[in-house]
Amino acid sequence: MTDQATDAEPDIPGKPTSASRTTLSHIMTHSDTNLLGTVHGGVIMKLVDDAAGAVAGRHSGGPAVTASMDEMAFLEPIRVGDLVHVKAQVNWTGRTSMEVGVRVLAERWNESTPATQVGSAYLVFAAVDADGKPRRVPPVITETDRDRRRYQEAQIRRTHRLARRRAIRELREKRAAAGLED
Ligand SMILES: CC(C)(COP(=O)(O)OP(=O)(O)OC[C@H]1O[C@@H](n2cnc3c(N)ncnc32)[C@H](O)[C@@H]1OP(=O)(O)O)[C@@H](O)C(=O)NCCC(=O)NCCS
Repeated sequence: MTDQATDAEPDIPGKPTSASRTTLSHIMTHSDTNLLGTVHGGVIMKLVDDAAGAVAGRHSGGPAVTASMDEMAFLEPIRVGDLVHVKAQVNWTGRTSMEVGVRVLAERWNESTPATQVGSAYLVFAAVDADGKPRRVPPVITETDRDRRRYQEAQIRRTHRLARRRAIRELREKRAAAGLED
């Protein structure tokens, strides 16, 4: 599998990271909390998926679906009243997929201190056409050293995701061939 366009396919003009980078902000309320009074991880994951989806749609110029979400890290609890900022950008692009990196920051409602990073995640989106089939995405053009570092790290994660999927598929095929039950 190649990550970029093949010779048979015309090039698509690239798009800079800054063209689709976005921030989604939300004030946390009582309906977002768990029994401990802190915000549910699932509420944060929804915001992360929303922000990343907006970035993927903007970068690819059309619909994009979440293919995977990994390394969702919750670093600090978030409380009612906190103003949460979810910052997302395209880290890497393949042929039809994009990795979107997300950082979650919280401004404490009762402190005038800078926003604290409370979480992060990496999501892969596939751009799809009207039939839900994967379609080509513009290559992302990195603009800063930080963008370039994120691109390189995303490539490492991509390699590991593919290797893990392949290894698990091969193991399952071997077990099935040996007549072992699921
Ligand atoms: C994601 C989806 C479109 C992939 O379709 P597919 O027929 O498997 O197509 P492909 O194997 O060609 O994969 C398309 C791209 O997604 C990537 N991809 C697919 N599954 C992936 C996964 N689990 N993790 C990471 N990348 C993945 C592929 O590597 C490929 O990228 P590339 O073209 O840049 O190399 C399809 O599985 C799907 O529709 N899933 C449901 C999505 C959904 O409902 N999400 C939640 C709501 S938005």
